[in-house]
Amino acid sequence: MSTEPHTHTGAVELAEGEVPAIRFEQVVKRYGDNTVLDHLNFTVRKGDRVTLIGPSGSGKTTILRLVMTLEDSTDGYILVDGNPLTHLQRDGKRVVIKDRERAQMRKRIGMVFQQFNLFPNMTVLENIIEAPVHVLGRSKAEAIKRAHELLEQVGLPDKANAHPTSLSGGQQQRVAIARCLAMDPEIMLLDEVTSALDPEVVGEVLGILRNIAETTDVTMLIVTHEMQFARDVSNRVLMFDKGRIVEEGAPSDIFDNPQEQRTKDFLSAVA
Ligand SMILES: Nc1ncnc2c1ncn2[C@@H]1O[C@H](COP(=O)(O)OP(=O)(O)OP(=O)(O)O)[C@@H](O)[C@H]1O
Ligand SMILES: [Mg+2]
Repeated sequence: MSTEPHTHTGAVELAEGEVPAIRFEQVVKRYGDNTVLDHLNFTVRKGDRVTLIGPSGSGKTTILRLVMTLEDSTDGYILVDGNPLTHLQRDGKRVVIKDRERAQMRKRIGMVFQQFNLFPNMTVLENIIEAPVHVLGRSKAEAIKRAHELLEQVGLPDKANAHPTSLSGGQQQRVAIARCLAMDPEIMLLDEVTSALDPEVVGEVLGILRNIAETTDVTMLIVTHEMQFARDVSNRVLMFDKGRIVEEGAPSDIFDNPQEQRTKDFLSAVA
């Protein structure tokens, strides 16, 4: 049984010896005097699909960027698979971990962004093999083979040599998903991955993500306004407001029977 201070939400009961995929311990993130995350605690079990919802500015992207190590927290600790992600506690002090260790941790995590963020000067294939070859040290032949399999999986088998600029938004996002999967991440971070897409292609991108959720055990942190997708794919929903979890539960609890007024207000605003 794990208990977490400060708030009862965000905690999960762990089995004896179970190591969670992600743990936030008293995480603070400030930009200047704007406190975005205020001693945030939460735990994500391995294989969990957790959807983060909440109003604009509530800190959802910040949480994903912290896990991706694109940002550093101001205080507190983030553990991934029981290991410190960026900082650890030593002799009661918060110290930064070695760059080499941080790079090792980062390899285990992948992120897909709203704006795809493909490398525009590289072909689709080059986008997908770049990190497996240069970060994981895979052979080029092996990386290419896997890239073709992934392009098949995302429904773009004939786009290997295309340039991102020649692809539609939906196609670019599918390449970005393939690029993320090429690293075999333990944790996938999805930040509003369909928000920049034309409505008619949202479904195909969500379909690919549903398939990944069904066929792998990757841990997912999902920020989305697609509530049906959140309902189908996630097993937990965390409702944030001003950098704090105000309510959490199974999707059916949160979407059908929200308890907090802020959750009710938010859901009626996005419906
Ligand atoms: N690089 C930055 N510099 C300064 N302030 C920032 C920065 N990034 C985020 N913030 C601030 O942090 C707060 C949380 O932002 P964040 O992007 O995490 O919110 P969000 O929940 O993802 O919102 P949205 O639904 O609009 O994407 C906001 O007040 C934002 O202005
Ligand atoms: Mg955001």
